[in-house]
Amino acid sequence: MESGGKQVTVQLMIAVGAAVIGSLQFGYNTGVINAPQKIIESFLNDTWFDRYAEPIPSSYRTSLWSISVAIFSVGGIFGSFSVGLFVNRFGRRNSMLMANVLAFISAILMGFSKLAGSFEMLIIGRFVVGLYSGLSTGFVPMYVGEIAPTALRGALGTLHQLGIVVGILMAQVFGMDSIMGSPSLWPVLLGFTVIPALLQCAILPFCPESPRFLLINRNEENKAKSVLKKLRGVTDVSADMQEMKEESRQMMREKKVTIPELFRSPTYRQPIFIAIMLQLSQQLSGINAIFYYSTNIFETAGVSQPVYATIGTGVVNTAFTVVSLFVVERAGRRSLHLIGLMGMAGSAVLMTIATALLTHDKLEWMSYVSIVAIFAFVAFFEIGPGPIPWFIVAELFSQGPRPAAFAVAGFSNWTANFIVGMAFPYVAELCGPYVFIIFTVLLLAFFVFTYFLVPETKGRTFDEISAGFRQTAAGATEKYSPEEMNSLGADSQF
Ligand code: GLC
Repeated sequence: MESGGKQVTVQLMIAVGAAVIGSLQFGYNTGVINAPQKIIESFLNDTWFDRYAEPIPSSYRTSLWSISVAIFSVGGIFGSFSVGLFVNRFGRRNSMLMANVLAFISAILMGFSKLAGSFEMLIIGRFVVGLYSGLSTGFVPMYVGEIAPTALRGALGTLHQLGIVVGILMAQVFGMDSIMGSPSLWPVLLGFTVIPALLQCAILPFCPESPRFLLINRNEENKAKSVLKKLRGVTDVSADMQEMKEESRQMMREKKVTIPELFRSPTYRQPIFIAIMLQLSQQLSGINAIFYYSTNIFETAGVSQPVYATIGTGVVNTAFTVVSLFVVERAGRRSLHLIGLMGMAGSAVLMTIATALLTHDKLEWMSYVSIVAIFAFVAFFEIGPGPIPWFIVAELFSQGPRPAAFAVAGFSNWTANFIVGMAFPYVAELCGPYVFIIFTVLLLAFFVFTYFLVPETKGRTFDEISAGFRQTAAGATEKYSPEEMNSLGADSQF
């Protein structure tokens, strides 16, 4: 059954656009800290000298720098885990609106840290914007998934990732020393986060609350109907209403779903396991080894202008997210995720061979091969493993367990993000040019997992998807081949 058709209305696009400003903030703050590394390190130096009248010991400087980078993901872990505290109490839209308080606080802390001569402000600011970003990775895909018509859920869901990658690209470009990556302007570069926050606060109040939240959580049928009419641009929204009521009826039967219950209940165990594994496949693919350390990686690969190559990854990243946006409703989530993982594994092998030949045999033209391999790695990431894990969580769960599921999925994603971010430089030093072999092995393992256990969700309503999982949990014994899973969806073998 398809509800809501394929109508892209202005109302729908404004609502999605306002929401994904939150994704842009996440991407911006992921990318912003790399280019000005040297400049911020010298700020640490100067501040230390002003306070203690001696130069900062280099191990302290390295620690302070690593903390400034990584505390962002720690904020993300806490933020994403708290999603459930907000969305049912305040609604999806208001939660997004409220989170901006954090964006303002962080912009002030980071923007004035230099003036105040305080690296503590920088570090706390990074933590607070991490909190905001963690909340966003739950709020945004949830809201977008709930307001999107079934036939467009994947395409609109991909806009969350598009917001992220545009944010990363903006940060890479703004961070060039000729723009804002300079000793005097870096506080503006970090404080820039206030602009998207203002924009979001200006637009969100004109966007509707999620009709699913209105109907299912608040029982406000008339409001839900009128919001749906505006979003869909039609007067007859009975199919959508029907489907939501079905979900609501289902929810009456289940109490409020807490996080432990997600793991205890046989109905939710399978989808939560899939959601976690997909998040891990996104982060343990090694993508952020590129986005956090590309300048370094390009340097090792013998590239003479690493900053431009880094911006190149941002451009490729954005371009292929757009490709995914246009094919995800046709090709489906499962096949794109599989193609992406396999392509990344292939690119990682190529990257390893190129770097090894460059290091050991001094084959200089290999640096071009490694640029191509890194671009391909990023391109394949955005075909599937980038966008899909984020929005599929909304698809795998019905209204009752959805907030708890987002908390668990977000927590897994941010924790893995933190681990890769922290560990990569050490492991890279240990393994030299072979470090990406670790990601290759992980990518292949996730490929096998996806092939056997991830169902297709394209074109199916939330209710149909969760009915599939209920059936499986109730002990449906039929075994389907992976080909059949493409069309059967959640009736997977487990
Ligand atoms: C995904 C990841 C994020 C990564 C980005 C790169 O959104 O969650 O960690 O930096 O893709 O495009």
